[in-house]
Amino acid sequence: MDFDSLEDFLSHSKGRVEQYLNTAIGQRRTSGVLSQAMAYSAVQGGKRVRAALVFGAARACGIDHAGLDPLAAAVEAMHAYSLIHDDLPAMDDDALRRGHPSSHVAFDEATAILAGDALQALAFELLAAAHGPQLSSEQCLSMVNCLAQASGAKGMVAGQMLDMAAEHDAVNLAQLEQLHQLKTGALIVASIHIGALAQKQVSAEQIDKLRVYGQAIGLAFQVQDDILDIEGDTQTLGKAQGSDLMNDKSTYPSLLGMTAAKARLMELHQQAIDAVSEFGASADPLVWLADYIVTRKH
Ligand code: IPE
Ligand code: IPE
Ligand code: MG
Ligand code: MG
Ligand code: MG
Repeated sequence: MDFDSLEDFLSHSKGRVEQYLNTAIGQRRTSGVLSQAMAYSAVQGGKRVRAALVFGAARACGIDHAGLDPLAAAVEAMHAYSLIHDDLPAMDDDALRRGHPSSHVAFDEATAILAGDALQALAFELLAAAHGPQLSSEQCLSMVNCLAQASGAKGMVAGQMLDMAAEHDAVNLAQLEQLHQLKTGALIVASIHIGALAQKQVSAEQIDKLRVYGQAIGLAFQVQDDILDIEGDTQTLGKAQGSDLMNDKSTYPSLLGMTAAKARLMELHQQAIDAVSEFGASADPLVWLADYIVTRKH
C-alpha cells in the first residue's frame, strides 16, 4: 500500500492497531470490569504514534504484512498501561486522559492498577504469540527481549522513578535528558527496533541508524510534551494543561527556558531526519512522523 501523507499513514496505522487491540482484549474477557477497563484505556483515542513507528520502521526495511499488527498492538498496550499508572494519585494524579476521565476516575484505583498490570502482560503475550508464516520464533523472542529491556528497570519504569524523584528537586540537563530518554524515549526506540526486527534480513547498521533516529525523536517527543504542558490547552490536549507545574516537575522549559527548549527540539528533529536519509523513499513515513512529533499540538 502507498501513502502520500502523514494523515493517511497515521489513520491507516490507527485503524489497524485499534482493531487488533479490540479483538485481542475481547478474546481474553474474564472479569467484565477488568476487560472494560483494559479496552477503555487501550482501544479509545490516542495518536498511535508508537504503532505508526512499528509500521514505519518495518516499511523502511521493506516489510509490510498483517504479521505486524500484533507488534504494533503490543507497544500500544504497553504504552496504555504506562499512562494508566502515570495518572494514578500516587504518581501525577491526573483526572483527564485522551479527553476522558482517567482510568482510576472512570473505574476505581484498584481496577486501574490491575487493568494496567493486565495490559502489560498482554503486550508480552502478543509478541510471544506473533510467530507464524511471516515471523519466526527467533524474531519474536528478540522482540520480547527488546520490549522487556525498554519498559522495565533499565527503561521506562526507571525513567518514571527518576521523574518522581525529580519533583521539587533541581536536576541538571544531563540528568533530565537521561530521565526523558528512559521514561519516554525507551519505548519509542523499542517500537522502531521491533518494527525493524520484523525484517529477517535487517542489518546491524540499519538497526543502528533506526535507533539513532528513535533516540532523537524519543527525546524530542518528551520535550514537545513538556512544551505543550505550558503552551497547550486542556481541551486540545485531552489531558490537564499545567500538570507539570502543579507537580513541580523538572522539564525542558523549566530547566532551559522556552526558547532554548524549542531550539533543542529543532536540533533533535534534524538529527532524526539525518539518521534515516540513506533509507530513501521507504523512510518517508518516518520523516513525516519526525515532523509531526515536533509540531503536534496534542
Ligand atoms: C503521552 O504519550 C505520554 C508521554 C510519553 C509523553 P502520547 O502523547 O503518545 O499519548 P497518546 O497515546 O497520544 O494519548
Ligand atoms: C509520561 O510522562 C511517561 C510515561 C507514561 C511513561 P508524562 O507524565 O509527562 O506524560 P503525560 O504528560 O501525563 O501524558
Ligand atoms: Mg508522569
Ligand atoms: Mg503524567
Ligand atoms: Mg507530560
